[in-house]
Amino acid sequence: MKTLVLATANPDKVKELQDVLGGAYDLRPRPTDLADTFEDGDTLEYNATKKAREVSDFTGLPALADDSGLFVDFLGGAPGVYSARYAGENVTYDDNVTKMLQELDGVEQTQRGAQFRTTICYLEPGKEPVLVTGEMQGYISTERTGENGFGYDPIFVPVEGDGRSYAEMSHTEKNAMSHRTKAVQALLGVLG
Ligand code: IMP
Repeated sequence: MKTLVLATANPDKVKELQDVLGGAYDLRPRPTDLADTFEDGDTLEYNATKKAREVSDFTGLPALADDSGLFVDFLGGAPGVYSARYAGENVTYDDNVTKMLQELDGVEQTQRGAQFRTTICYLEPGKEPVLVTGEMQGYISTERTGENGFGYDPIFVPVEGDGRSYAEMSHTEKNAMSHRTKAVQALLGVLG
């Protein structure tokens, strides 16, 4: 069985990847003695590749890294790759949601389109990185709904759903359609 080292230490993401890839790959967590990657790129591709490269170089093994963001049409694609720190450094998910609702205050429904994107980088030592992206179209609602999920979930309504926000969906419902799941599926297509 092929070994794959994950660049993330986030237990939710590790579990998600374990569910999908666990049967076919020996998945290893990010080494605890490897410092966090400084995510200084201005694209998801750059950051995912940087994370995968650091882990692969450190372990000498194939590595898998992901980077995600919310791209809002009315804001010219912001916050995008900067989604985690949209309202500033060391902010909460709720701070970011509050800022987003303020920025879109008074903006009509037709102009509130947005996409969640996840890019995954798979890197084998000595080979070119393989990059795949999953996307979910939707719009930013005018108020928070739902208690589940994380991040911008209470204000993101996916077009593939029934009008509920990601945060109103169960974990299973969200995972059945999410941008991250689509990226993982694309990866499976590439890894074969
Ligand atoms: P990461 O690269 O997966 O850590 O995502 C960066 C940021 O994008 C997170 O801190 C969240 O603010 C946002 N984000 C990514 N994926 C999701 C999601 O599925 N729901 C809500 N917010 C998300």
